[in-house]
Amino acid sequence: KRPAGAPDTQLAKPVRKVGVIGAGLMASQFALLFARKLRVPVLITDLDQSRVDKGLEYIRGEVDKMLDKGRLTADDANQIKDLVRGTTDKSQYADCDWVIEAVFEELGVKQQVFSEIESIISETAILATNTSSLSVHEIGERLSHPERLVGFHFFNPVAVMPLIEVVRTPTTNDESLATAMVIAKKLGKSAVITADRPGFVVNRLLAKVMGEAARALDAGTPLPVVERAFAPIGLPMGPFELIDLVGWKVAAHVQDTMVAAFPDRFYASENLHRLAEVEEPLVKSKLGKVEDLSK
Ligand code: CAA
Repeated sequence: KRPAGAPDTQLAKPVRKVGVIGAGLMASQFALLFARKLRVPVLITDLDQSRVDKGLEYIRGEVDKMLDKGRLTADDANQIKDLVRGTTDKSQYADCDWVIEAVFEELGVKQQVFSEIESIISETAILATNTSSLSVHEIGERLSHPERLVGFHFFNPVAVMPLIEVVRTPTTNDESLATAMVIAKKLGKSAVITADRPGFVVNRLLAKVMGEAARALDAGTPLPVVERAFAPIGLPMGPFELIDLVGWKVAAHVQDTMVAAFPDRFYASENLHRLAEVEEPLVKSKLGKVEDLSK
């Protein structure tokens, strides 16, 4: 059955090569998923070779883990490793049919990335952004063909979380939307089409939970106590462990976006920004004693 608002899948374009811009944790996770599920060449790139190498190393490590668990045959593992290549030379993206970015969550940076890539790719290639909460329409403002841009929002950990938010802007055409829906299905994910509104659907809800947890922290409740207080409501992890997973900078950015969009509905926490500057994951440094505290 076709999901609400979904176009005819017949309109989807073939994807023979995927381009991923960014080689950070999110980008590396979905680059691997594209190679594993679509079995097409996947390129990753970043600001410099060392970041690209780090992404490739992560991907190869994850493939090895799947091999060890018996989830992949040795042939499959080798094929997947071979399909994912890294480069700092964007001209190699010229023949990609689908290019998705997961670079720094700043509007200007993402606009710049797409302007550059649009000058390289073919007229028919489709562009996607994994932005968590920025306006997809604004990200595409500098494109000559904004109709080919679609939001394609993954969740962490990409291999496990079943959902993709496919974001339709006022200009996204049916071909791009259909391609996104077909890709999501091939990746083994459920896709929902969401409007291009701050936080889409999931982050609008999560920012509430994280914001209230941050509010308790700001009011002086110790961090592990807030974490423990959330346990009985049955979430798979507490709010701060979840922030640790998605990244404190990302969480602080989502919160900023929501507060800017709806100042009367979302809470701006100074602490969240302060903690976002702490390098070491807080789960390891501060939450290690959560279990002890629950006694
Ligand atoms: N990468 C790949 N696989 C992972 C993984 C990772 N980072 N973390 C866990 N897994 C896999 C494990 O390998 C395991 O797979 P197998 O069964 O094949 O061995 C499976 O997931 C379950 O893992 P665990 O048994 O270790 O742990 P768990 O059952 O406690 O589940 C969890 C871990 C899936 C992370 C769970 O705690 C959970 O669902 N947490 C909530 C995650 C969530 O809400 N994510 C959305 C965040 S919002 C976001 O990402 C978007 C944004 O814009 C901010």
